[in-house]
Amino acid sequence: MHDPAEAALSALTRPGMGTENAGPLLRALTRMARPRTVVEVGAGSSTLHLLLGLRDARAEAAADRRVVGGSVTNDERASVLHPRSASEDYAPKLLVVDDISVAGTSAHQVSDAARALGLDDMLTFVERDFFEMTDQELDAWGPLDLVWLDAGTQADDAGFLTSLWPRVTPGGTVVLHEPYLATTVETSHGRVACRVVPTPLLQELRRQGAASADGFDVLALSEPHKHRQTGLLMLRKHAGWERDRCTPFAEELKALGEIPSDEVPRLSPTPVPAGSGTPGDAGQILAALSDVAQRTVFSSVVLLADTAQGIAARLGTSPAACTAALAGLHAVGLVTHENGLWSAADRIWRQLQPSSTAQA
Ligand SMILES: C[S@@+](CC[C@H](N)C(=O)[O-])C[C@H]1O[C@@H](n2cnc3c(N)ncnc32)[C@H](O)[C@@H]1O
Repeated sequence: MHDPAEAALSALTRPGMGTENAGPLLRALTRMARPRTVVEVGAGSSTLHLLLGLRDARAEAAADRRVVGGSVTNDERASVLHPRSASEDYAPKLLVVDDISVAGTSAHQVSDAARALGLDDMLTFVERDFFEMTDQELDAWGPLDLVWLDAGTQADDAGFLTSLWPRVTPGGTVVLHEPYLATTVETSHGRVACRVVPTPLLQELRRQGAASADGFDVLALSEPHKHRQTGLLMLRKHAGWERDRCTPFAEELKALGEIPSDEVPRLSPTPVPAGSGTPGDAGQILAALSDVAQRTVFSSVVLLADTAQGIAARLGTSPAACTAALAGLHAVGLVTHENGLWSAADRIWRQLQPSSTAQA
């Protein structure tokens, strides 16, 4: 059966642009996040995927409103809906900026395709160089819920991010194309080989994400079968309600009525060897304090018992980084946590045992 949307997508698709997986993923993300204001820099088949996602999201939002409003009975659906969010009006818009500067782009066709499919009421196409847009013009878009950047170089991406990130709403997402690049590297055997590696922008944003006080997630997805136009980088700004509660994992499980687990999933190597030794082991204490973040946090706790937020504020670090350091110190018995306050443990120094390594 002829599907006009599929036909339009295939007319807009340029295999060299490499958005054959990014497009459907953006469409699904749009349905999932129900963004009100979406911005795309760099148009093509991805524009239509975004519009189709918004069309689906709009239809699903209308159906949900009928369920929470009571005009349709669907108890199972009602049981998962947030009554306030699901009853709000939803009129999304997609703002696309493209200066039609790249040979072979299908950007000039997207407005006609949207009109033919009856999706043009959601689309504003701005045929301009993004970097010529003024702050006032960008401000007029209002808070941005989803931004898709697929234009120009890494330096351009850096420029788009500098302009748009402050305008992204808390909880909002920025998706960038191609966080990997093919380049020549020197192998450990001294040979020169071609490899796909993270871009400098991905490396920089990962570093910032790890140290960020305000908090944002960084996720890079690869397409390992491609060496160009490969992968996606997703940045999601944390909303206020997502702040780190700075309470140890086991305590939170207990508060939720779950059986407290001694097993804290440690996904990154910590200086404390998991499962070996007991609190009070000199080798473990040394290992814990050899980590500069843990040593800094420990010094702060020795000076003043405090909440994780208080310690983080005094050290000028993020609460999440502070909590991770406190968890490492707690695991070896260097700090205790009572009534929300972290204190330096005294007893540990009295019961200090020489570690097996020290004895050897
Ligand atoms: C890689 S293509 C976009 C591909 C598209 N997302 C797709 O799914 O096919 C890049 C587009 O960005 C546009 N572009 C490049 N630099 C730009 C800039 N500074 N401002 C606006 N558009 C730009 C080009 O005209 C081109 O259409």
